Amino acid sequence: MASIQQLDHLKIPLDDIKSATDNFSNSNFIGQGGFGRVYKGQLPLSASTSTTTARLTNPAVRPATVAVKRLDVKGGQGQHEFLREIAMLSSYKHDNLVTLVGFTEEGDEKIIVYEHEVRGSLDKYLTTDLTWVQRLQICLGAARGLNYLHDGVGEGHRVLHRDIKSSNILLDENWEAKVSDFGLSKIGPTNQEITFLVTTAAGTFGYVDPVYISTGVLTKESDVYSFGVVLFEVLCGRLAMNGKYDDDRRFLAHLARLRYEEGKLNEIIIPSIRKQIKRDSLRTFSRIAYQCLKFERKQRPRMAVIVEQLQISLEFQIGCRRITRIGLWGSSTGGSPWSLQLNVDQKLRKITIDHQDWIYSISFTTEDFSGLLDSSERHGGAGGHSGGQISEINFDTDEEIIEILGTIGVTTGRYHGYTVISSLTFKTNKKNIGPFGKETGDRFSVPWDEGTFAGFYGRAGFYLDGIGCYLKATI
Ligand SMILES: Nc1ncnc2c1ncn2[C@@H]1O[C@H](COP(=O)(O)OP(=O)(O)OP(=O)(O)O)[C@@H](O)[C@H]1O
Ligand SMILES: [Mg+2]
Repeated sequence: MASIQQLDHLKIPLDDIKSATDNFSNSNFIGQGGFGRVYKGQLPLSASTSTTTARLTNPAVRPATVAVKRLDVKGGQGQHEFLREIAMLSSYKHDNLVTLVGFTEEGDEKIIVYEHEVRGSLDKYLTTDLTWVQRLQICLGAARGLNYLHDGVGEGHRVLHRDIKSSNILLDENWEAKVSDFGLSKIGPTNQEITFLVTTAAGTFGYVDPVYISTGVLTKESDVYSFGVVLFEVLCGRLAMNGKYDDDRRFLAHLARLRYEEGKLNEIIIPSIRKQIKRDSLRTFSRIAYQCLKFERKQRPRMAVIVEQLQISLEFQIGCRRITRIGLWGSSTGGSPWSLQLNVDQKLRKITIDHQDWIYSISFTTEDFSGLLDSSERHGGAGGHSGGQISEINFDTDEEIIEILGTIGVTTGRYHGYTVISSLTFKTNKKNIGPFGKETGDRFSVPWDEGTFAGFYGRAGFYLDGIGCYLKATI
């Protein structure tokens, strides 16, 4: 972790913050938490270019649109924790953690500046018509972020979040989850008129580990408990606590535990997803969520196990869990899984591949028994950008893919260092078609299994620069 002296380069002058937020104007106000008010702001160019060259060369680190959290701390209170939070945020980086832009400390003002996540926080979407797959992907992203804090920040080191809840899970434009406010609860809010939804010294009502309340000892399992509550919020489409009820429904943790044990979880699942959710996906999801809520800490799963189980739940939902996993290629890029599964009455007629030195995106055209053609959406690819070359592979009516071959390479150029599928070749009962992309790196081959082409992952990243994206395969 960076020492406090090393944080100077992250300092942003108060004047810059004032002009960014139009002097903390109400029109820029986004929300209020236990620590103070949050404003949206456009960081002026001078602030974003006045510091280190590292930021100049990496615009993603210093976005123009920021979220400004003006801490409501009086005098010197929370000073140590404030700098600790800054040091921590600046040290720990992960796709699923919110990005720190800088901080301000002048006079009584203590301000933390974050990257602005355009969709805001997850609590605002619980009751919306987000699909089950979208909900699962959000949970998976948040779980990865938290897993990183628990087990990925370095040997013998661990960060406890201390305040996991849906309002601390932010969403970017691709619905990628970003965990925010880790460690902040140590600062302690001075605002005593707190409602159930904001942080108290013991975390947030409705999410707090009961063992923490009774013993005062906080462990990583306390985060796991709170995360379990979030998982049920997402499944049930409601917040952890609903003050309008004074029965079993008041606290979701209690209600979910009860219904799970009665085998009646279905009754509390948000109606909009009840029809789409597949049995195995629900079973995997609810089992792990229930385990998070165990009173006995030792019985709660580690975040790594939660990540794994959410991944399995997602695979059940999208249909690729039924086939044997033959291999995993590419690095984890946080993209969205998908699969193509041909129905018994469908044939594959065309594959469209966008490629250059690696595979950017892929889409499929199928034909049903009545001759109707149907093209899938483009899997992978970002913002309509292309790898450079679009190839179409057409299959005869009596032609069947029997094997898929490929190579795994490492990206070069500006965004170097990602392991991706660099080429694909399709072997049919008639011929070999390909390679598409560039054959570099390790080879793999998989049989075409009963018309299932499952689990390539596309990441819609790099949209800022208009670069395409790449694919990863789990078959
Ligand atoms: N980086 C950000 N990008 C976009 N919106 C944000 C960002 N940070 C916070 N917000 C919004 O501002 C609101 C207030 O955030 P804040 O963290 O202060 O309060 P909270 O999460 O509701 O409670 P707590 O103070 O306990 O964390 C959030 O609910 C969220 O909608
Ligand atoms: Mg928060």
